[in-house]
Amino acid sequence: MLLRFVKREARRWWSGRAGAPPEVERRTGAWHHEDLAWMARLVRHVPGDFAEIGVFRGAAFRKLAALAHEQGRTTHAFDSFRGMAAPQAEDGGQYAAGKFDIGGADAFVRLMGEAGVAREWYRVWAGYIPDCFKDVPPDTRFSLVVVDVDHYRPTADSLAWAAPRIAPGGVLALDDFVPAHDLLATRAIREFLDRQRGFERIAEFNQQLILRRTGKA
Ligand SMILES: C[S@@+](CC[C@H](N)C(=O)[O-])C[C@H]1O[C@@H](n2cnc3c(N)ncnc32)[C@H](O)[C@@H]1O
Repeated sequence: MLLRFVKREARRWWSGRAGAPPEVERRTGAWHHEDLAWMARLVRHVPGDFAEIGVFRGAAFRKLAALAHEQGRTTHAFDSFRGMAAPQAEDGGQYAAGKFDIGGADAFVRLMGEAGVAREWYRVWAGYIPDCFKDVPPDTRFSLVVVDVDHYRPTADSLAWAAPRIAPGGVLALDDFVPAHDLLATRAIREFLDRQRGFERIAEFNQQLILRRTGKA
């Protein structure tokens, strides 16, 4: 039992060091904190802030913000904080307006405070996509961006806005990539992959696709 534990931990430690994703048990629909830590390690020498587009109650964001803070960076939270907009044809009628409504940005800040995330570690951009992007300082650049908004249109708009702002070597982490269908975020991600040549796939697990910027997006 102890030997198995030691072996598993050694494998985990080595895979993290070697640049491969960690060997962890993942839950669909959630970002594993060790995967976030792995991505943060990958971009340790890449300039730019961290961002999550679609934060909900901050289950991933609290870890991202702490990792960014350890590296002396800021993290940006983008969300309506009022849940999803109405689904469009490309969403196949899924995920009703208001799903994931947490009652506004103040509720998010409160949750982060309770989770020990200091207010000066992060910035909040409240509003529906793409409106929530319009006040971000134009020279903002990112080393790590997580996109997790489920619907087709906001995923496409998020990719169009964020991809050119990611520094070379930076990571773009996409949730809800389900190659078996052509709806929702998957459709937007597939269109993005078809169009651009400036990102390489570095991992895929748990319906999550991890890309790294190599050149011009
Ligand atoms: C699945 S949840 C995100 C979960 C979060 N990434 C986590 O790991 O806990 C999707 C989030 O995207 C936000 N969202 C979806 N569509 C949006 C839109 N059109 N504009 C702004 N936010 C949106 C929702 O409010 C919700 O908080």
